[in-house]
Amino acid sequence: MDIRIVADGIQNREDELIVVNLFEDVQTPGGATGAVDQALNGAIREAIAAGDLRGKKGEVLVLYPRGAIPADRVAVVGLGPQESFSLQAVREAAATAARKARELGVRSFSSIVHGAGAGGFALDVASQAVVEGTILGLYRYLELKNKPPDRLDPETFTLVQFDPDKVAEVEAGALAGEIVAEAACLARDLVNRPSNYATPTDLAELAMEIAGEFDEMRCQILSEEDADELEMGAFLGVAQGSDEPAAFIVLEHKPERPDLDTVVIVGKGITFDTGGISLKPSEKMDRMRGDMGGGAAVLAAMYAVGQLDLSLHVVGLVPATENMPSGQAYKPGDVLEAMNGKTIEVISTDAEGRLILADALAYAAQFKPRAVVDLATLTGACVVALGRGVAAGLFGTDEELSSRLQSASEASGERVWPMPLYDDYLDKIESLTADLSNSGGRDGGVGTSAMFLKQFADGYPWAHVDIAGMAFEERPGGPKRPPYLQKGGTGFGVRLLVQFLRDWAAEG
Ligand code: BES
Ligand code: MN
Ligand code: ZN
Repeated sequence: MDIRIVADGIQNREDELIVVNLFEDVQTPGGATGAVDQALNGAIREAIAAGDLRGKKGEVLVLYPRGAIPADRVAVVGLGPQESFSLQAVREAAATAARKARELGVRSFSSIVHGAGAGGFALDVASQAVVEGTILGLYRYLELKNKPPDRLDPETFTLVQFDPDKVAEVEAGALAGEIVAEAACLARDLVNRPSNYATPTDLAELAMEIAGEFDEMRCQILSEEDADELEMGAFLGVAQGSDEPAAFIVLEHKPERPDLDTVVIVGKGITFDTGGISLKPSEKMDRMRGDMGGGAAVLAAMYAVGQLDLSLHVVGLVPATENMPSGQAYKPGDVLEAMNGKTIEVISTDAEGRLILADALAYAAQFKPRAVVDLATLTGACVVALGRGVAAGLFGTDEELSSRLQSASEASGERVWPMPLYDDYLDKIESLTADLSNSGGRDGGVGTSAMFLKQFADGYPWAHVDIAGMAFEERPGGPKRPPYLQKGGTGFGVRLLVQFLRDWAAEG
């Protein structure tokens, strides 16, 4: 979709559809909505008075100006109550409007920047949110369907800003929004893409392509032999059951400046999790193609980092492998030795994510990073604790790092909630035969998984985000699901990571 910015009054736009907005319970709209209403001889006020338009979230009313203004159609989208207004409401309103545009078969539409006027948000921030909502709202996964969809996406989206002096601010926000939302759509594609189309080799090739687009990005793919050389016994233990070659992906954005901080982002890249010998039940197992949701977020965030050309040294690590049962597979009771020399007793081969992350976290130390953040669809226990689609669990060893992530979470709308790393959890993963075991059982399963990872995150500030409940959307469409989410991959973590990295690059 082509995104344009123009300086104009929205009521003057000649387009197939123009979009304005309304807060809940406003009787007489002001600003751009008021200007359109006046040009339409009070048609919007009349709809409000008739009770057909209330400004509720998710609501959208389409009016036909019949020549009163140059546009063919006007959509008024609800912003919800002004008291609880947020950037999230901006994203939702933009997504609702964009979906309506597509439903109407509109090829080109224009919108004001929701949230900037009476909403009180800075123009660049609001513009970013509008573009994010628009792109994310229109997302569909179609690459393996032969039949084209009934309605095509609009080709052009124009943001309209009345004051020519403020156009540059809209442009800056819109560009950032486009980069980050397109990256999130890439992560969604990777999660939705079946495991036979998104193998570790496929992810590695994608990482190479991403690096190839930017002068300051390098990609290194460590093969199983390379991993063996590095003594990544935990990663290789998981990989040994699969006939599909594993790949340990290293992407590095390194601007030629010696003074930059180094931040490492790590993503779990299990391209399919059968559970291995500790086999999962087959019902809904197809969802486990999304067990590389953390890795997808890291690859996509690196793509955004390259486009934004951040003044920061960013390393992306994705240990990628299938977790399969086979004659070669690792077995419960086996002991693996991770790269840092720690030995791990395998209690469950289904607790594979922490094993591949153990080696990735140990590998990260060589970069002498100021911070390491990992994202992983790690535990069902996290979903039990926080709920599906509600929030990701945030663990960390460093207050400042955790608070940076919480700020990025608030700005991006991707929720994280702090969870404890009590030493008690370490007692639960004691092993009879090795330094640690890879499972502490059911109770406190999210805490023991994070405490396990902590044993490998040595020598740098570290944070872990458990996204098991967030990477894959299951709710049916309707009022219970935000309009910028579709069933399947959500791209969760991309906006969080990019916001976190942008803030770090800007503020140090
Ligand atoms: N990939 C799963 C966790 C998961 C569950 C992600 C549901 C998304 C939705 C992970 O590898 C796993 O199987 N974890 C086990 C750990 C247990 C064996 C200690 C779990 O949560 O049951
Ligand atoms: Mn598993
Ligand atoms: Zn898994």
